[in-house]
Amino acid sequence: MRKNLLSIASALALSCSVSLALAQDNVDKKVSDLLSKMTLEEKIGQLTQYSGSELTGPQGEKINISEYIKTGKVGSVLNIYGTSEVSKYQKIAIEKSRLKIPLLFGQDVIHGYKTIFPVPIAMASSWDLDAVGAAQEVARNEATASGLNWTFTPMVDIARDPRWGRIVEGFGEDPYLASQFAKLSVEAFQGSDLGDETSMLATAKHYVGYGAVQAGRDYFTVDLSKRTLWEVFLPPFQAAINAQVASIMPAFTTMNGIPMTGNKEMTRDVLRNQLGFTGITVSDWNAINELIEWHVAANQSEAACEAIEAGVDIDMMSNAYINQLGALVKENKVPISLIDEAVARILKKKFELGLFEDPYKYCNADREVKEILSPENKAKARDVGKRSIVLLKNDDQTLPLSKSLNSIAVIGPLAEDTYSPMGPWFCNGSKDNTISVLNGIKQAVGKNTIIYYQKGCDVNSSDESMIDAAINTAKKADVIVAVLGENSDMSGEAASRSEIGLPGLQEKLLESLFNTGKPVVVVLLNGRPLTINWAQDHVQAIVEAWFPGSEAGHSIADVLFGDYNPSGKLPVTFPRSVGQIPIFYSHLNTGRPATAETKMLKYVSRYLDIDNSPLYPFGYGLSYTTFSYSPIELSASEIQPNDSATATVEVANTGEINGEEVVQLYIEKADSPIARPMQLKGFRKVEISAGNSVDVVFHIGPEELALYDIDMKKTVEKGIYNIYIGTSSVTYQKESITVK
Ligand code: NOJ
Repeated sequence: MRKNLLSIASALALSCSVSLALAQDNVDKKVSDLLSKMTLEEKIGQLTQYSGSELTGPQGEKINISEYIKTGKVGSVLNIYGTSEVSKYQKIAIEKSRLKIPLLFGQDVIHGYKTIFPVPIAMASSWDLDAVGAAQEVARNEATASGLNWTFTPMVDIARDPRWGRIVEGFGEDPYLASQFAKLSVEAFQGSDLGDETSMLATAKHYVGYGAVQAGRDYFTVDLSKRTLWEVFLPPFQAAINAQVASIMPAFTTMNGIPMTGNKEMTRDVLRNQLGFTGITVSDWNAINELIEWHVAANQSEAACEAIEAGVDIDMMSNAYINQLGALVKENKVPISLIDEAVARILKKKFELGLFEDPYKYCNADREVKEILSPENKAKARDVGKRSIVLLKNDDQTLPLSKSLNSIAVIGPLAEDTYSPMGPWFCNGSKDNTISVLNGIKQAVGKNTIIYYQKGCDVNSSDESMIDAAINTAKKADVIVAVLGENSDMSGEAASRSEIGLPGLQEKLLESLFNTGKPVVVVLLNGRPLTINWAQDHVQAIVEAWFPGSEAGHSIADVLFGDYNPSGKLPVTFPRSVGQIPIFYSHLNTGRPATAETKMLKYVSRYLDIDNSPLYPFGYGLSYTTFSYSPIELSASEIQPNDSATATVEVANTGEINGEEVVQLYIEKADSPIARPMQLKGFRKVEISAGNSVDVVFHIGPEELALYDIDMKKTVEKGIYNIYIGTSSVTYQKESITVK
């Protein structure tokens, strides 16, 4: 019987792969038929992308978009959304253009469409793949219900410099963690079949190394070793490609001195031949023109030539392809085959989406009304919001707060704000649909609790006039909740900061609040790690909420009042000072490490004025309960290179309330010709009820152990591997396993 079932299953699998291959052949044939009917101008049109009314980059040459669509000069647009707008422009392509090729409609649906979810750095703080998958699916459902079939997400850039504003848009400092979220996001947006009306194309960006901009300054110099590129920056792209990501956006920055938009080696050889990418590459906004500013192209014609040679299929907002490619082909400077292969890749995605069968498939107005901002979507935003919060400090069990306190003073420039909680990439979210922290707290407490509110100061100004009123109000309350941090426009694109403390007078306000003698709980809304040393040294509790999205106030109140026991862990290191940057857990040991014993000696790797350790390490986050870890039990202490073993720990909830713990596995090669850092290689988020324990088992095999060897070949080296399993990158149990 079992044999029969197996043979039925393998017959089915075979027939599925045969029909997939047939479908693919079919698409390829349709693409080449259509291509053979296209004029050169129409082909170049497919390679051209324009923005609707909204600008998400510098304004370039203005064009009449409807006229361009009519004459086949546009293949895709961005920032045109909503079923009525999308069908209006799609209708022009279908009814007025000669070949009736449907348009792609793209937008930056980064963490929600209208129901806004936590910013990506916050979602990564949840370490909760199910919850984040659900969030991305809501984003996809709303976006596709509103006419879109392409998102420019996920941003999978590793970021280790909190001065860089775009750290908010990614999944943090670690390649393994970011790879998990890259894969999950691609799968969530693209679904299992691109032809479904709820599926859309995803984009892994910004390929590659953008997060390594020096000094944290956006768009600036990048200088990466080959090893760091392959070990740290490329893995999340590889994960997205393995998940069949439909498109990739080259970064604004350079690799080995060549801007990624014109970097043939990186975007053709590495991306397509080595990483196996077969989809569309879309330039970043105006990036082809910027080859001129980089001084690698003398004019727009050279820029267009370099970009198409590098395999950049779509020109977003440079006008370079439409202005230059025709002449370049006619003068034999660009072979038509380069244009054809780019057009074919774009048409293929249009066929796979099913746009030729039904160009209006994303334009169902009833679905739009039903889907957008539905109560279920908001409930999911609240859920992911609370899971993304990281409890950084909680002395004397100050949190959770009782809902029947006499009074709470909610103070701070971000308490009443409904704009910043959406974060810098809030897509089509609206502050009218966002719950402020103050509102969330008011709705959470019992009716006898008085909530006082004062702004105290602005986020970023030197106006001291509101501080006294805030202090006087704070004095009346049992506890102070200080809602501090950054405005959402202080992180994101083109929003680097050289100092990353609390801006303006906020620390001064906090000191005054602390001096009232009342317990102070700080709630942070921010898009990057902040140097909040003073707060850490003084106030009773600190809650890192990042920008939680539409349901911010509810998610935060859920944590403050204990309806949810916080479970988030930092996906990025918090420095004590800008002088420590770059600071990340996965660094090399150095030949002169500063250990507990050596750290006061002269010739060791340390600062004279500050400890090496971060303010909060990667993987750190508290709970309202406590967890203990047993020593690691290995199924084998010696294995062969192709073998695997298991590493098990028993994790116990030693407190009095139920909680979730993120159990983290790190591996470090202890003896190797190449110095090796410890690296995250697995994690599990487990729910453990009070007083109980669970066994957490990690698989340790070639996937976890393989490293790039001296020749940059992925190999399981012989020798000793240290295994660390724990609650953060600095608190763990240790064992070692030998590969013989
Ligand atoms: C520039 C950003 O770098 C990119 O991430 C985004 O997708 C485009 N603008 C379009 O808005």
